This record gives sequence, C-alpha cells and structure tokens, in this order.
Amino acid sequence: MGKYLLVIDEGTTSTRAMLFAPEGACIASEAAALDQHYPRPGWVEHDAAEIWRKTLRVTAAMVAQAGGADRIAGIGITNQRETIVFWDKTTGAPLAPAIVWQDRRTADWCAAHREAGHEALVQARTGLLLDPYFSGSKIGWAMREWPALAAAGDRLAIGTIDSWLIWNLTGGLHVTDATNASRTALMRIAAGGWDDDLIALFGAPRAALPDIVDCAGMIGTTSAFGGSIPITGVAGDQQAASIGQACLSPGDTKATYGTGAFILTHAGATQPNSDHRLLSTIAWQLAGERAYALEGSVFVAGSLIQWLRDSLGLIATAAETETLARGVADNGGVYLVPALSGLGAPWWEPDTRAALSGLSFASGKAHVARAALEAMAHQTHDLKTAFAADGQDWASLKIDGGMVANDWIAQDLADMLALPVERPAFAETTALGAAMLAGVGAGLFADLAAASAMRGAVETFAPRTDPAARDTRLAGWQRAVRSVIAAAR
Ligand code: G3P
Repeated sequence: MGKYLLVIDEGTTSTRAMLFAPEGACIASEAAALDQHYPRPGWVEHDAAEIWRKTLRVTAAMVAQAGGADRIAGIGITNQRETIVFWDKTTGAPLAPAIVWQDRRTADWCAAHREAGHEALVQARTGLLLDPYFSGSKIGWAMREWPALAAAGDRLAIGTIDSWLIWNLTGGLHVTDATNASRTALMRIAAGGWDDDLIALFGAPRAALPDIVDCAGMIGTTSAFGGSIPITGVAGDQQAASIGQACLSPGDTKATYGTGAFILTHAGATQPNSDHRLLSTIAWQLAGERAYALEGSVFVAGSLIQWLRDSLGLIATAAETETLARGVADNGGVYLVPALSGLGAPWWEPDTRAALSGLSFASGKAHVARAALEAMAHQTHDLKTAFAADGQDWASLKIDGGMVANDWIAQDLADMLALPVERPAFAETTALGAAMLAGVGAGLFADLAAASAMRGAVETFAPRTDPAARDTRLAGWQRAVRSVIAAAR
C-alpha cells in the first residue's frame, strides 16, 4: 500500500491536518478553532503557542490515523500569510503576540511613508504596496513598541506561520518558503532574497529572519510523531489554493472565499507589474526557479457572515444566508460594504469602515443577508476591472473556499462577472495544493502538472443575468463603496 501525504493547513480561524492518498482522495481530517484577540479597534492578534499546540494535536491525530510516521511520504504545510511571529531561539517560546494579517495598527506609519515617497521602492522590489496588511510594517512596529524583542538580541527569531511551524516541527530549523517570504515586503521577489534597503526601511532585524527555500523538496524532517517524517512542501495558503486549482499556465485564475477573498492569476516566469493597485507575488519556487502571480486581496469575505452570526445574531448558521437571499427578489436597494478591517485591493483604504446603506421600512433581514452575499460578487467585480486594466482579464474563474458551498454565491459570481465559474467537487483546494507540493517534494510526482491528477471533478456555473440588471447592481455598489471611502478621508 502506498504512503500518504499529510497536510497542515494553518488558517486564520482554525488549524487543520488532513491525510491524502497520492491519488487525491482526502482520507481524514481534524481541525481545531483558534482564539482571535482584538485588543483595540483595528488590532488582531493570535497566540503562537496556541497555534503550535493545536497544530501538533491535530497533526498527531492524522499520523495515528495513517498508522504511524513511516506511513507518511511527506508533510505539506500551508498557512495564513503575512501574520508574523516573534520567538526566542533558545527557549522556543513566543516573545510577543503574533500580529495577524488583518491587523491595521501600522496604518498611520504606512500612510506617512507613502506620503514621503517610499511606496515606489516597495512596489518595484516586492510587488506589494505600503499597507499594514504585509508583515514588514508589523515587524517594525513590534521592534519599536515591544522592548522584549530588542532585548532578546541574537536570540530573537521572526517568521511567518510556516517558519513558526517548521521551527517547532524540526526542533530549530529557521526557514520560510519563497511564497510566504514574498508577503513580508522584505523580499526582492525578482531576485529571490531579502532586500537590505527594505529591511532598513521597515526596521526589521536581518539576523532574526529565516532562510528562504523552495516550495517543494527535502525542507526538513520532524520527529515530533514517533518516527522521522520529511517536510516536503510549503506554500502560503492562497498560492497553495492556486496550485490546488491547477492554475499552472499564464491567465489561469482562482478565487478563494475564506476569511477573506483572494484572487490570483498565474503570470508566468517574470514578475508582473500592476498599474492598478494589484499585487505581484511569487506563485511558487521550485528548483530555485520562480513563477509569479498577480493578486487581488479582499480582506472580508466569510468573516462577514461570521460577524452577522456571532456579533449581530442576525442568523443562526452561515447556511441560513442562502435561504434568506433566495427569499427576496433582489437586494431592495440595500448594499453592504464589508470594510470591517478597511478595504484591500483595488482600493487600499485601511481607515474605511463598513456601511449598510439603502435601508427603508421595506428592508428586512433577508435584504441584509442578501446584500452581504452580493458583496462577494461586487468585490470580485472590482478586482476583475483592475485585472483587465492591467491586461490580465479573466476568461473564467475557478472558485473555492468555505463560502462557495453556497450555490447562490457561485451563481451570483457567474452572473455579475458574466463569466463561467468553475467549482471543484472537492472544495479544499488549499490543502490539495499543499499535498501536490508535498508529493512533488517527496518524489511521488515529477512536477505540478503531474501532481494535478490529484484534482477531481469540476462543476461549471454559466452566467445568466440580463446585462441591465447587472449594471444597476454594479452602479449601486460603486455608489456605496465610494461613499465609505469618502467618509474615511
Ligand atoms: O493573506 C491572508 C490569507 O493568507 C489568509 O487566508 O484562508 O486564513 O482566509 P485565510
């Protein structure tokens, strides 16, 4: 019997481990929810020790399920990107809270440095913008504000979540893969290494940073589960989803609707440049060769539905939104701009806040739920416009993530984008992409194209709304989004 591929998928709201057969079937999975800490408005923190503890537990459960460490060909790691962890190299203990990608505490610092003219350098070298989303300004803030970090001197280690997990799994290997490194704003993505000018700009301590490695290969070994298991694949979760959706050729585009929504178009072997405030990012690095993608990052997607459920109590379950949305003929003029943690691409307005507009006495709960779901297609349409303006219009869209189990959303995306939308039967494309990388790294597949045989059936949603209805909705959204931006300025 062949060996399994074990995937660790460490996301924003939960950490999971999954066991794959090399043919693509997911045999088992185990998840643990993560506590979210909001110490101040706009701040979001995680406890890195909790992330490791829970990751270790769910991974051990999968090793047991496989029948022991020697039944695993390789581990693939994929993770929430940009979130940054600070720890002590001697004790392995975190020295501060992990600052999460959603955290906006460096908005003023970024704005001041943008005004001072630094964004051109950041964009040219990293493909990113001067926004609090990326790790660089978070690292600088932590070094200025948390004295324990500077006091740790040479003992300080800094890394994204992949680094933190690999450090713990291997007992002290300090590496990061090129896709995660490309989200720190400290990497020169065309050349592949850390950039001293950016390190100086953000105030990051060079010696604390990990070495940058490929996304597949013998990255390290862990003996945390009895025998020795190689770690053979690593990628940030959106890059992994792109691989899991087999976006392997220029123009292939995927959209993942998880906590946020992240759309990546494969761009080939050269760093793309955006004139419309999209990001260029590393899609993967294999045998030292990099492939690139153009990315649009939307900060709020599934987290909006969670917020309607947990903070407002408007719904009891996320699935209820589909019934509510189908229960009304249209949005009744109600628009929800979900800027709960500012607006990402293509607007990049960290200080905007969410707004519900167009309410009347005729508006009910169903209109609000529908407006929340419609916001997914509206935000995606804004990105389609930006990608097209950058010469990368989409021919179709491959969707995945927890939200698109909702058929109403899948159809609404097809209608609003006027594009065929493809949804794989196996929706866990992030984990699948990490399994594909781990399979390539373990030598089970010659390359990603061969590994894409792991991907299963796909369902296509064809567009069917009439153009006039679409234009009315999109015009209403534009009014709504522009008014929240104007209110924040
Ligand atoms: O860039 C942030 C992204 O990697 C978070 O992904 O899956 O936790 O929403 P997710």
